[in-house]
Amino acid sequence: MSREYEYRLALSKTLQSNPDQLFCYWKGRVALYAALKAIGIGEGDEVILPAFTCVVVPNAIIYLKAKPVYVDIDSDSLNAKLINIQTATTEKTKCILIQNTFGLSSEVDEVVAFAKSKGILTIEDCTHGFGGFYQNSPNGLRSDFAFFSTQWNKPFSTGVGGILLVNNVAYLDAINKENKFLIKPGVKKSAMLKVLIGFKNAFLGDRTYWFFVKFYRFLSKTGLVVGSSSGTEITSTVMPNGFFMGASAVQFTEGLKALRHIDKLMHRRKQNADSFSNFLRVRGKTSVKEIFNENHSFLKYPILVNDRQLFIVKAEKASIRLGDWFLSPIHPVESEFEKWFLKPENFPNASYVSKHVLNLPTEIENPEKVLAFLSQNIDDIL
Ligand SMILES: Cc1ncc(COP(=O)(O)O)c(C=O)c1O
Repeated sequence: MSREYEYRLALSKTLQSNPDQLFCYWKGRVALYAALKAIGIGEGDEVILPAFTCVVVPNAIIYLKAKPVYVDIDSDSLNAKLINIQTATTEKTKCILIQNTFGLSSEVDEVVAFAKSKGILTIEDCTHGFGGFYQNSPNGLRSDFAFFSTQWNKPFSTGVGGILLVNNVAYLDAINKENKFLIKPGVKKSAMLKVLIGFKNAFLGDRTYWFFVKFYRFLSKTGLVVGSSSGTEITSTVMPNGFFMGASAVQFTEGLKALRHIDKLMHRRKQNADSFSNFLRVRGKTSVKEIFNENHSFLKYPILVNDRQLFIVKAEKASIRLGDWFLSPIHPVESEFEKWFLKPENFPNASYVSKHVLNLPTEIENPEKVLAFLSQNIDDIL
């Protein structure tokens, strides 16, 4: 059995899906692009997505000359609300993206039923939600397609990486056809990824976290290393050279290693999230609503703070691994939103949350240090 198939088999066990309906890519955004292309999305089409996402999502739509149509999020789930999706739907809508923000799925059945009633296809953005559940089944099983990310900060990591699950078998041929055009990652690229993974495993800790985050972002922007997003993906809507890239053997090997511990990691994430929820609730602060807990995979634990920048500075001093997703409705873009067809002022919930949200780490062994830090800075938390 090939290493790739072994990986797909391991993925299919967690996802309770068929390995022959799973496809691997260099990044999650490539998996999304492949799905949109297979559907036949093109000029004049509209794709609905939440106004609280990563810029690479609207990029994939724009690369195909279609128009991203944003909808506001619900402040509790941080996902697009059904009612807003219904209002944004027009006769040009060809596809609806359903995102599991920070690992949470909400209203998936309702959105899928609505889309079906209109003959619209659905893609679940499970880049934060691998291993989480929607009601009693794993995230990603209810839409026509779902895609996952295995980038550094994702539910499990292969450095960078993406997976597409094709639930609607009518599109398997189209995906296989598209995949024939995938560029093979070169030896240099794969080797660099392997070195970066080794570096991360050897040196990433509380003390080095902030140094690594800044240094890696700098190097990715300059294109010097295999980065999450190259500079041009953040500043323009032109597809970068070499975008449509397949997965490498390094990713299969790392993925197989990481998947062996996925259940333990999921359990730890939930336990840490419970500690954060209890802490925030008792102090009357915003916390993830209890109704969501059962299904949430808690990739990140969102908190709202008065002054993000100040809180980040304090976290860095205290060596707390804080995340800054999503600092804008199309993270990490902070200007020239019109290039992405976005008017942030039309999305009050997403604009408010992106001004105030930060994320607590859930993968840590012991939450005590984070809880002590929150205690010391409780007045900064909303
Ligand atoms: C919501 C969301 N969708 C898609 C992506 C793209 O995933 P990848 O970085 O694997 O391309 C990200 C990346 O962080 C994301 O946060």
